[in-house]
Amino acid sequence: MKNLISTLIILFGIFSLQAQDIEAGKVLFKSNCAACHTVGKGKLTGPDLKNVSDRVSPEWIHAFVKNSTAVIESGDAYAVKLFNDYNKTIMTAHPHLSDGDIDNIIAYIGDASVAVVPVTPSGGTQVLNDGTMPVINDTAQSAIDMPVVVMVFWASVVLISAVLISLALIVVRLLK
Ligand code: HEC
Repeated sequence: MKNLISTLIILFGIFSLQAQDIEAGKVLFKSNCAACHTVGKGKLTGPDLKNVSDRVSPEWIHAFVKNSTAVIESGDAYAVKLFNDYNKTIMTAHPHLSDGDIDNIIAYIGDASVAVVPVTPSGGTQVLNDGTMPVINDTAQSAIDMPVVVMVFWASVVLISAVLISLALIVVRLLK
């Protein structure tokens, strides 16, 4: 029983820590990356970073964010192609960002990749850069709220279970 409670507390801790990382990553993204990148809202100067973790590894992102020129000059085929596709635009080097900072940004991009639902003003579907067909417009409002609702739901489930189990333990103690 004790183990179960510890597990629940740890799970809840991980959940809150993750939320913090995403929040920190969001702030860093807004100040360092948003001028050239969106997550799910199309290309700007640089590619849409939606689901970027499906395309490249965290190590690759770390190296590229710190010094993209070094990665391109190393002959990395993917980086060279991307660089050419984006008219040889040099992405700003961010040597001041720590590995932790970049991990937080990656966490934010991952979170936003799930949360973003593209909306076309006229309704109907819209073809994204990556060719996937997103959700239809008339459910857009609820679809945007969905991940938050789901997160709150699971947080509540964890919390309520923890409370119920603690209560049960107290009752067991009192009955002894
Ligand atoms: C000055 C504009 C600019 C800024 C600021 C910028 N980028 Fe980029 N980024 C680019 C361009 C342009 C590319 C395409 C590759 C190239 O031209 O070197 C790119 C490519 C990338 C890629 C590879 C994308 C893919 O589809 O594989 C990642 C990941 C990335 N950037 C992350 C970041 C992060 C994280 C930040 C903020 C810390 C950032 N970028 C800030 C312009 C920028």
